[in-house]
Amino acid sequence: MLITIENVLSKDEVRSFRVRLDQADWQPGAGTAGTLARNVKQNQQLADGTELAVSLGQHILRRLGQVPLFISAALPNKIYPPKFNRYADGGTYGVHVDSAVMQIPGTSQSMRSDLSATLFLSEPDEYDGGELEIEDAFGAQTVKLEAGDLVLYPSSSLHRVTAVTRGARVASFFWIESLVRDDGARTLLFDLDQAIQGLTLKVAADDAHLLKLTGTYHNLLRRWTIT
Ligand code: NI
Repeated sequence: MLITIENVLSKDEVRSFRVRLDQADWQPGAGTAGTLARNVKQNQQLADGTELAVSLGQHILRRLGQVPLFISAALPNKIYPPKFNRYADGGTYGVHVDSAVMQIPGTSQSMRSDLSATLFLSEPDEYDGGELEIEDAFGAQTVKLEAGDLVLYPSSSLHRVTAVTRGARVASFFWIESLVRDDGARTLLFDLDQAIQGLTLKVAADDAHLLKLTGTYHNLLRRWTIT
């Protein structure tokens, strides 16, 4: 499932992020790519663990914790501390798949990447190119969102970022280990939850059918949860 979530950050929050990011010490991104990905990666990143990356990353995670659509779609168990990248001057990232298992920086823990997330921090009219192209069952999906909006997609997908030929594309990106590993199962739970949320607005809270559907949701979640 590929889903976009709008207004994770407000325009004011994006502006204050950008004031700090636009004067940050950006490093070549190839240094952190896997052996294969290194050949196709031409961008810049903030080093992990810097005060700026940590404080902005924590701000994003606090916001996401307040977005029901994100919780419902991702069912997060672990979230990688958000990273930040910048594409300019023809910067691009060729077709690749994200690593399946990652060490969480600053800990001895590892996590599986089930979902990849990109939070756009540049407005679409600030740059040319820089589309995120994701291959899914229905072909290539092209994603270029407003600043403050986020896209969530399966980490198993082939994806790439097209060359930025004008301006700069600044974004945050990170991975999620979900409580539900299988994308198909997670999508069914998401659809069921959205239907229940819709019904909640139309029928009484103690409606027997609504209660039964809610019970089914939780029983499926119990059945499919990996911890
Ligand atoms: Ni990637």
